[in-house]
This record gives sequence, C-alpha cells and structure tokens, in this order.
Amino acid sequence: MCGITGYIGHREAYPIVINGLKRLEYRGYDSAGVMLFDGQEMHLSKTKGKVADLESIISKSPDKKLGSIGIGHTRWATHGVPNDVNSHPHFSQSGDLVIVHNGIIENYDTLKKELIKRGYSFKSDTDTEVLVNLIEEVKKEENCKLGKAVQLALTQVVGAYAIAVFDKTKPNEIVVARLGSPIAIGIGKDFEEFFVASDASPFIEFTKDAIYLEDEEMAIIKLERGVKVRKIKDDSLVDAKIQELQLSLEQIEKGGYDHFMLKEIYEQPKAIIDTYRGRMLADEGIIKMAGIDDHIEKFLNADRIIIVACGTSWHAGLVGEYLFEDMARVPVEVEYASEFRYRNPIITSKDVVIAISQSGETADTLAAIKLAKSKGAFVFGVCNVVGSSIARETHAGAYTHAGPEIGVASTKAFTTQITILSLIALKLAKKRGTLSQTAFHMYLQELQLIPNKVERLLQIDDHVKEIAKVYKDATNCLYLGRGFNFPVALEGALKLKEISYIHAEGYPAAEMKHGPIALIDENMPVFVIATNKGHYEKIVSNVQEIKSRNGKIIAIVTEGDIVVKEIADHVIEIPDTEEALTPLLTTVPLQLLSYHIAVMLGKNVDQPRNLAKSVTVE
Ligand code: F6R
Repeated sequence: MCGITGYIGHREAYPIVINGLKRLEYRGYDSAGVMLFDGQEMHLSKTKGKVADLESIISKSPDKKLGSIGIGHTRWATHGVPNDVNSHPHFSQSGDLVIVHNGIIENYDTLKKELIKRGYSFKSDTDTEVLVNLIEEVKKEENCKLGKAVQLALTQVVGAYAIAVFDKTKPNEIVVARLGSPIAIGIGKDFEEFFVASDASPFIEFTKDAIYLEDEEMAIIKLERGVKVRKIKDDSLVDAKIQELQLSLEQIEKGGYDHFMLKEIYEQPKAIIDTYRGRMLADEGIIKMAGIDDHIEKFLNADRIIIVACGTSWHAGLVGEYLFEDMARVPVEVEYASEFRYRNPIITSKDVVIAISQSGETADTLAAIKLAKSKGAFVFGVCNVVGSSIARETHAGAYTHAGPEIGVASTKAFTTQITILSLIALKLAKKRGTLSQTAFHMYLQELQLIPNKVERLLQIDDHVKEIAKVYKDATNCLYLGRGFNFPVALEGALKLKEISYIHAEGYPAAEMKHGPIALIDENMPVFVIATNKGHYEKIVSNVQEIKSRNGKIIAIVTEGDIVVKEIADHVIEIPDTEEALTPLLTTVPLQLLSYHIAVMLGKNVDQPRNLAKSVTVE
C-alpha cells in the first residue's frame, strides 16, 4: 500500500509529483506529502487527508512548489495513525536526508531503540522515520555516499519496502530500492530526466521507457549519468533492462465517466474480448494459451489444482473451482492466500497452484506462491498488471488484459479473471476428453457472445438505478446464489459493503435455512440470483421461503422468466447463456447496484474508507 513518486530533471518537479500522487491514490489515501528541493533548501508539505487537501495547502505557499527535484507520497497507514506528523516524506535527524516509503519495516522497534541509544530522537510513530535515520547513521559511521549507506542500512532491515531517498548535500541523485513493494523508474530523453513511482502511471505522458526494479535491488539515479542498478545483498551490478511501456494516458483517465468504477464496469465488454482475443478461435474450436500449452503435462498430470487469492480474486477462484470440476473433472481447492500461507498446507510437486491477482502485488498471494514453489508445486499466475511481482514470481501465467483498474472496488478484473479461468477449464476439458466436442464448441460460441450480452445488460442501468433508489437506506442485505452463482452472491455482497458501508452477506441459497433466515423480515432486502439453469426449482423454493417471511426480494432472472417474476418485488433480467457462463452476466447488475447505492449515499466510490487497491502488507 502507499504510493510514491519522484522526479529529478530540468522541469518543475511539483506538477509531476503531485499529479503522480493523484494517479497513485488508489494505493492509499489517508495522508499525503511532498518534498521539493529548490537548489538550496528542501521544502516539506504534508497533511492528513487526500492529495487534493495537500494541493490546497501548498497553493497558499507558492515557494514550496519550486525546484526541479521532488519526491511525494500518498499513504495507507500501517505504523502510526494517519495524521500530519506521521505523513511522509520524513527527514533524518540532521535534516539532510529525506525519504518516502511504501511497506513495513518489521524490526523497526529494535532499530529505533538502537538509534535512540546513539542520540536520535523521533517526531513520528512511523517505521519510516527509523529507516531514514538508520541510513543517516550508517552514512556517518561508514563515511560513505548515500547509495552505499542505503545499501548497508537495508541489509539490517527486516520487512518490505519501496523507498526513494534524497540527500540535499548531494543534490544530483535519488536513490530507490525495493523489496516486496514495486518501484518503476521512468527514463527521460537522453537521460536528462528521471521519474520514480510505484507504477508507471505518473510518468506515462513523459516517457515510454522504464526500468522495473526486482526484489532486493536498488538504483542510484544520477542526473546526466543515468541509472545504476545493484543487488542490495552484495552490491553487485545488475544489467537492468529498459522496457517499453504499453500503458496510455487515456487508459488511466476517467474518460467522461463520473467515477473510475463506473467506467470500469462499462469497459467489461471490451475487457472480456481483450482477454480472449488471440486465445480463443471459436469458429475453429481452438484455445491457444502459451502459458498452458508450454506446461500442459503439469496440468494433465496434476493430482489437483489449488487456487490461491484474496478478496474479489478469491471469488473468481471459487467460480474457477466450479468450472474446472464441472468441465475438466479435476479436483480443485480454493484457498484464501492469507490462510494457506500460514496453515502448513500439504503441497506436493504433483499440485498445480493457480494464483489470481488483479494487481499482482498482494502480499498474502505472493507469500502463498513462494510457499507453494518451495514445496515443488508448479505455480501459474492470473494477473492483470503486466510485469507485476506475482507475474514475475510464478512459473507461467496468463494476463487478463483488462487494462488498468483504478477504482478500488474490483469489477472488470473479476469478469476477466472468470474469462481466463473458463478458457483454461475448457482447454483442460478438451485435452482430458471430459467434454464432448459438441459441448466444447458450444461453450466457445457462447463465450464469444458474452461481451454483447454484457453490453445489453449495461443498457438496463436506469432500471438498476431505480432499484438502488428503493434500497439505498437498507442497513443489512442478504445475497443468495447457488452453484456457479454462489461466488457471485459473495461478490455482490462484497461490492455493496466496501463502497456503501452497508452490511451485506453472501450465502449459498440453500444454507439460508441453517441460520441467516432468522434475519429475514420486512426490512431485509434479499438479492437472489435465480437464473433458469442448474438448480432453478430449488432456488424458486428459496425465494418462496423468503417471501413467506416478508423479505424484500430482488431477483436476477433469465429473460422470459415467469415464475420468480410473480414472487419477487423486483427483477433484473439477464440474457440467456450456459449456466457455467452466467457469472459473467449476473455480476454486472450487482456491480451497478452497489455503485448507484454508494453514489446516492454520497460515498467516495473510487476511494472507499480504509481500503487500498494493492494490499502489499499482510
Ligand atoms: C474488492 C477488492 C479486493 C481485492 C483483493 C485482492 O473489490 O478489490 O478484495 O480483490 O484485495 O487484490 P488482487 O486481486 O490485486 O490480488
């Protein structure tokens, strides 16, 4: 969590750093700060609140914007409450060094005690202030330059970090380092300017050339001299590759929508096409996925598939379980990465682990991958962010190609993850001979029709909005679904609670009578996914049970449904498709519903309280 930016070059640094922070606010937004160096002095501005609050404070002191070197930070608090003092950047005791940090220094307390013994005192409660003073102490002790001091200090650190450090006594360089949290370095034309950020979005309009640091690497970025990447452990030089960025400015802007979340919901038809483009040739009956094709024996010989993920990605994993078991007849277990990594799981070299993550940076998922690899399992990643830590840590993988997802509530990531999992399930089913040729071809044709059907669903947005109006003041909601749509019920409930702060629970519909039914009265809206496939009669009975207890029923049904329509208070119709593919459709109205409720309640849809887009701490 937390976003960091930096600039060193010939332009005014302030607009680059502050606009960069705005683009990184998805990573954390409880406080923000910048340091600008005007050639003589460092000017620090920081505050509790959002980047916009920081901007309005700085607008009153134009001298604090001056300089062509700057670093900035947007925070998601770990150590120390969000307040002005704990906000980054942090100065060292002498005032010569300044740092921004994303991550957690786990042994900060021990280091702090040692530094206090050596005469250091601390203004904040943060681990970051400990780190900058540790660097200062090493620099003094070893009488070395900033780069060496950072390297030596980091060998004493336990934890995770992405840092950018500046030394006003050597004002021609910024030193950055990474372990567990990302750092991208943008290389300006002719090495005349450099950009630093947690991802490439802050500098996309300035350069397409970037270096992504690997874990345990640091870089000394020197004006007119370029970038030197070294290993933190042994100080050896690394031949870092400059990559060409594929990201465009348009992709990271709202494009006329009020919120990123809405834009991303509406992008789903295209995102799903981009996910299967070049991989699925529906008319020829072919699925080509290099990450699977190159390792097909691993998949075919696997005793089981274990899916690890968190949050919405975990819900996609649950849909994956239904897909793999139903189509390819492979046993699947779906695990919360955070539980898996600590519960001493049984993993063997005959297991295939699929790790799902939009950001590719989720700390628990990353740790689960490392654990599975250490036990000999083959690990396949399903990520959205190209070049992310999880994409690099896995043996093979497939990108979802959904494009940047900036709204904190995940939407298009979910449907594109399900699309990838459908392709893998179908591919394995074909190889294993568990699906007839006819069924295989039919699924491909149906999958090809999904983007169009999502498009049609988006056209009933006004109807969904009307329903949102009716239920916006609810304090509790229940979401029910069966089979493939049980995970969608969980996802629908998660979407509502995270952006509207209304308590919601998702349940397998039949489990209702084992407890949650006690909650149902005339004030309880129950969202039921009741499409015409699978266990339709059973879910109709569940709907009756709710009705007879006066619950309010909002049902998602297949177009043309008569039975549920008669009982429910409201219905939302989805186009007909194969049962296994219904999650790609039933999810969409639930996303829209949560969105409209949150907007009507005046909530910050794209940046809900206490959350961050990339959960890079455990
Ligand atoms: C919910 C949401 C989170 C993420 C979870 C995993 O809308 O966004 O639950 O799904 O933090 O994140 P990734 O997929 O980046 O690993």
